[in-house]
Amino acid sequence: MDKIAYFVQKSNTNATAVAIFGAIGAVVVAAKALSFLKVLVDVFLRSGINVKKYDAGNGGWAVITGASDGIGKEFAFQLASKKLNIVLVSRTESKLKVLAEELEQKYNIETKVHAMDFAKGDDKDYQALQALVAPINVTVLVNNVGTNHEIPTPFEQETDKIVKDIVEININAAMKVTKIIVPHMVARKKGLIINLGSFAGLVPTPYLSVYSGSKAFLSSWSQAIGAELAPKGITVQNVNTYFVVSAMSKIRRATMLIPMPKPYVRSVLGQIGISGGASTPYTSTPFYSHAIANWLIDNTFGRAFWVKQNYNIQVDIRKRALRKREREAAAAAKSQ
Ligand SMILES: NC(=O)c1ccc[n+]([C@@H]2O[C@H](COP(=O)([O-])OP(=O)(O)OC[C@H]3O[C@@H](n4cnc5c(N)ncnc54)[C@H](OP(=O)(O)O)[C@@H]3O)[C@@H](O)[C@H]2O)c1
Ligand SMILES: *[C@@H]1O[C@H](CO)[C@@H](O)[C@H](O)[C@H]1NC(C)=O
Repeated sequence: MDKIAYFVQKSNTNATAVAIFGAIGAVVVAAKALSFLKVLVDVFLRSGINVKKYDAGNGGWAVITGASDGIGKEFAFQLASKKLNIVLVSRTESKLKVLAEELEQKYNIETKVHAMDFAKGDDKDYQALQALVAPINVTVLVNNVGTNHEIPTPFEQETDKIVKDIVEININAAMKVTKIIVPHMVARKKGLIINLGSFAGLVPTPYLSVYSGSKAFLSSWSQAIGAELAPKGITVQNVNTYFVVSAMSKIRRATMLIPMPKPYVRSVLGQIGISGGASTPYTSTPFYSHAIANWLIDNTFGRAFWVKQNYNIQVDIRKRALRKREREAAAAAKSQ
């Protein structure tokens, strides 16, 4: 009799445990499903702050660094099409002048160009930029300029020059240019700062360690100044970018996961102030397939898994890059 009582009691306890864990499980699953649904709603249905708000057609200017190619050039076209005047900054003055001319003719806006090499970190170049923008009202800043390791390389083998350039261009340039532009925005209680972040800043990327760290810096710094500047009417958005077709990515063909700059930048400018696939504040992952990838990274496996995944990918890319270098060296030797 005692045995039966014991059995009944035990199975009751089991049933209660199953019910409790079942309920917790259901809540967890529901929460995950909801957060995934929110990503889809963000990227497919919502539209963010209209960039016209930043005095477009009304004397507002956008400053774009690394503006002569790739993603930066596309920002120049799309912001000009919204009637923002544009300040173009990159190394090559000739490229900037041709682009400026095209933007003025096509969109009937004003432009200014400023040629500087951010790798030099020369105060005089920054002072000249400050003087150039002093007479105008800058309402939008796109901290786009960036550089990467030439090929995936173990940290201890990377050249001092590449390490220094990445820090100077990806980190210091963003801070210094922002410091010049923010007073413009504070004065008008209005502004938008877009920083070009990367998935390499989200998941540490072995063999691209300095690039990865520079983008993690951008992520953290963007969130911190995002909170500082929000009460002043300034929106800061770190844009979590996965591969985009460009000279830097060395990818020439678009796929579902790798858009051309045009649709990519359209997704960024269409979702100002909206997080898309990103789970940190003042951050967005606006392109739909990137947003879904970002959600999967945040919600499946652990970070260790994704770091290992990145390690495997970069080891493979490095192998292929070294083979390509060998082939090119052999071809060069032959043609001599
Ligand atoms: N493409 C991707 O897959 C990808 C992925 C994640 C994040 N991002 C980020 O997106 C941003 C733009 O990348 P992208 O792919 O568009 O690059 P890109 O096509 O290589 O263009 C880089 C631009 O920056 C300028 N630039 C390069 N070095 C410079 C320097 N030292 N000083 C001044 N200007 C310089 C280049 O013009 P000049 O050569 O004339 O100076 C060019 O206009 C970067 O911050 C990158 O980290 C890109
Ligand atoms: C800049 O904006 C202010 C208003 O915030 C305006 O009074 C001034 O005329 C503008 N300057 C230029 C050069 O457009």
